[in-house]
Amino acid sequence: MNYKESLHNPIFEIISQASKELNVDSYVIGGFVRDLILERDFKKDIDIVAVGSGIELALKVSDLLPKKPKVQVFKTYGTAMLRFEDTEIEFVGARKESYTQDSRNPIVENGTLEDDQNRRDFTINALALSLSENNFGELLDPFNGLQDMKNKILKTPLDPDITFSDDPLRMMRAIRFATQLNFEIEENSLQSIAKNAERIKIISGERIVDELHKILATDKPSTGFLHLYKTGLLDLLIPELTALNQVEEIEGQTHKNNFYHTLEVVDNICPNTDDVWLRWAALLHDIGKAPTKRFNKKQGWTFHGHEFLGGKMVKKLFERLHMPLNQKMKFVQKMVVMSSRPIVLSQDIVTDSAVRRLVFDAGEDVENLMTLCEADITTKNPAKFRKYHKNFEIVRRKIVEVEEKDSVRNFQPPISGEEIMEIFDIKPSREIGILKEAVKEAILEGEIPNEYDAAYEFVLKRAKKLGLEKVTK
Ligand code: CTP
Repeated sequence: MNYKESLHNPIFEIISQASKELNVDSYVIGGFVRDLILERDFKKDIDIVAVGSGIELALKVSDLLPKKPKVQVFKTYGTAMLRFEDTEIEFVGARKESYTQDSRNPIVENGTLEDDQNRRDFTINALALSLSENNFGELLDPFNGLQDMKNKILKTPLDPDITFSDDPLRMMRAIRFATQLNFEIEENSLQSIAKNAERIKIISGERIVDELHKILATDKPSTGFLHLYKTGLLDLLIPELTALNQVEEIEGQTHKNNFYHTLEVVDNICPNTDDVWLRWAALLHDIGKAPTKRFNKKQGWTFHGHEFLGGKMVKKLFERLHMPLNQKMKFVQKMVVMSSRPIVLSQDIVTDSAVRRLVFDAGEDVENLMTLCEADITTKNPAKFRKYHKNFEIVRRKIVEVEEKDSVRNFQPPISGEEIMEIFDIKPSREIGILKEAVKEAILEGEIPNEYDAAYEFVLKRAKKLGLEKVTK
């Protein structure tokens, strides 16, 4: 099969020319070829294999380009990279590779194209298109990657135990590709993941998290998380989630399986947000439920304080996985801590004051919180489902109304501490805090509007109870 017509990026002609001059064969390989055949969007990332020195080929290519771009050389790995327009082009010499048992550092030997294809992760990632002049665009597919693509199968070119132990991250890549592409993982490869799962421990948190992000960014992350669960990887990576997979029964009372519920929530949120951090919040919103689960005769199963504990667990989990401990983590924490608020609100009559408090506490993140809570409705009872959604619509409408009237989203007190000190001619003291808090409460309760005059009158009245009188000068 020939893909000459598809290689329209001028860089391929130039690489072909450079290969000719150096008298080495070269191929485009990996993700670019896979995505070309699957008609997926081009990722601006091209991998080239030279049967010879990848570094020399890169230098030659740069030489032939009008702008002579800088070549970044990674000597230890025998690779080189240059940028052409907005594309990153990575060059590597074909290798026969074996890895040491406990590290990712390979012992590298020069090899043929087929050796190189053999050591790649999946047959669909081992497809190569020739860039040599005599067979430009020809597909080289010694491991039937094209057929696997048609059958939607992920399969390792070598015995999966070897492929996965060479680089254990590939176990997660298998699951991530299966989720992204909607492919099945071939049975042998799947069993091998289960068998080698423990080897994931030698992989850095950053690389693992990158794959988790990619799974979460798909349309149906539950596919990936179920694979991670069934192969034992999830228990090694996020045991907080697997702890949710149990249903206990005491005196005939059960509680829902919060693991499967969580996966449903994550899938539910996907059509409504592409924000991977909000998706993380959906994934983690119930993690506090396993450690807070209790049973008592009066209330049945309870999870008191699970949101608060869940928030604390988010930080530990982020630390453990080497995720950023910045605003993103704080956002996920906030979503987890507040995750039950709108639900509680929508089970009852939706009052203005409850909505005002919600907006006050959630601030700028209130819409995200609503999106999370809507996804959290997984009841199979159609009447309840309708009722909760209807109430959430009311909440959303009231959020707009309340905000227009009282702007509590970024609450600024209508009367300042300095003004209060001046009115009563007092020094900084406890009373000022009490009065300011009372003003805020009165606004949130809807007793007074968020305006200076109303707050002024309110302060005068409230201050009397504290024995304070306005001072006229
Ligand atoms: N590869 C591999 N084992 C890995 C990582 C990569 O064998 N652990 C090979 C595969 O042939 C892959 C190519 O290197 O296609 C390029 O890797 P990378 O750019 O990481 O992945 P892509 O396949 O391009 O896909 P994505 O960008 O979605 O990760």
